[in-house]
Amino acid sequence: MLNRFISLSALIVKGSCGFQGPGLLSKRQSLLKSGAKNKTMSAKPFKVLITHPEVPQSGIDLLNENCELVRVESLPPKRSELLQKIRGVDGILWGGHEALNAEVLDAAGPQLKSISTMSAGIDYVDLDEVKRRKIPLGHTPTVLDNAVADLAVGLLIAAGRRFHEGRKKIETGNWENYHLNWMLGQDVRDSVVGFYGFGGIGQAIAKRLSGFDIDQVLYTTRRRIDRETEKELNAKKVEFNELLTKSDFVVIAAPLTAATQGVFNATAFNKMKNTAVLINIARGKIVNQNDLYDALRSNRIFAAGLDVVDPEPLPPNSKLLTLDNIIILPHIGSATNRTRSDMATIAAHNVLRGLVGERMLSPAY
Ligand SMILES: *[C@@H]1O[C@H](CO)[C@@H](O)[C@H](O)[C@H]1NC(C)=O
Ligand SMILES: *[C@@H]1O[C@H](CO)[C@@H](O)[C@H](O)[C@H]1NC(C)=O
Repeated sequence: MLNRFISLSALIVKGSCGFQGPGLLSKRQSLLKSGAKNKTMSAKPFKVLITHPEVPQSGIDLLNENCELVRVESLPPKRSELLQKIRGVDGILWGGHEALNAEVLDAAGPQLKSISTMSAGIDYVDLDEVKRRKIPLGHTPTVLDNAVADLAVGLLIAAGRRFHEGRKKIETGNWENYHLNWMLGQDVRDSVVGFYGFGGIGQAIAKRLSGFDIDQVLYTTRRRIDRETEKELNAKKVEFNELLTKSDFVVIAAPLTAATQGVFNATAFNKMKNTAVLINIARGKIVNQNDLYDALRSNRIFAAGLDVVDPEPLPPNSKLLTLDNIIILPHIGSATNRTRSDMATIAAHNVLRGLVGERMLSPAY
């Protein structure tokens, strides 16, 4: 069990030949030497662009050892500054969620040999373009699994137990505790929790929920996960239909792809229990938000807890915000100090490995 929730240090050690290993060091040193012939002794062999001014220091320090750094300083990062500074770089640490597409790759030039994002999901990357140019791309899954899983459990309880509505009752002077059945919510104990997508994050959520004495985990994925993990998590693979009809809590933990976009629409909500709670910590576009609004408004489902919406930022006048039975957070799943710093470290290692032609710690393809 433990080794699936790898710690950062384990992940780095686990990477083939280890970043600190002699193979890479000697390669780097020879690159440094060959660079020194033409340039000055202090010249660093690679130029790397940091696309966001707030990339944690942990990542900057690592890159700074052997790379000349160019940094986007505007905040929010300006496309024009990015396109200007990207010219001629060897590597890119893509700190934000802006479109990484042909425009950017063209602006960089053909010498570009390594890119890493600082996110798990890479739906803002034109992956075909990156692949076509054979540029290694890294991302940072796994390190954020625990932080996102913690948040998902929080959302599940907050939505199931009506935290938002309760707060509003206080503010509006409607604390009606003379009722015996006031503000009743859904139990986690003995519930069936269904996961749409069941990778590292989904499994980390299931692991936490096992401490809440749930009855069963169901999951819908393309491929069945390994038997041992299924047994540990009391998890069973089912078709999407069965997931919807049997789950008390439905957790969306799948990447956004053409196949998952808009899958949670009116048809899906109509198959769910009317006591069901929907949680989305993946991507907003997997849910048809108009249909979700209708399903919550009509109490067709009980409640929803969302860390992701469409668009982001959600406009302050969004009709979703008028509902009592929804908890909405501004996409803060991985937003803990330690996790953000770990993401920068992994991203920097990815970039460095790509630069010297080694396999990245967490390649995106
Ligand atoms: C919901 O999506 C499914 C495909 O995932 C589709 O077959 C169905 O027609 C959609 N329903 C509505 C109401 O859009
Ligand atoms: C955030 O993390 C960094 C790196 O781990 C650490 O040096 C710093 O003290 C932390 N800051 C806070 C506010 O926790």
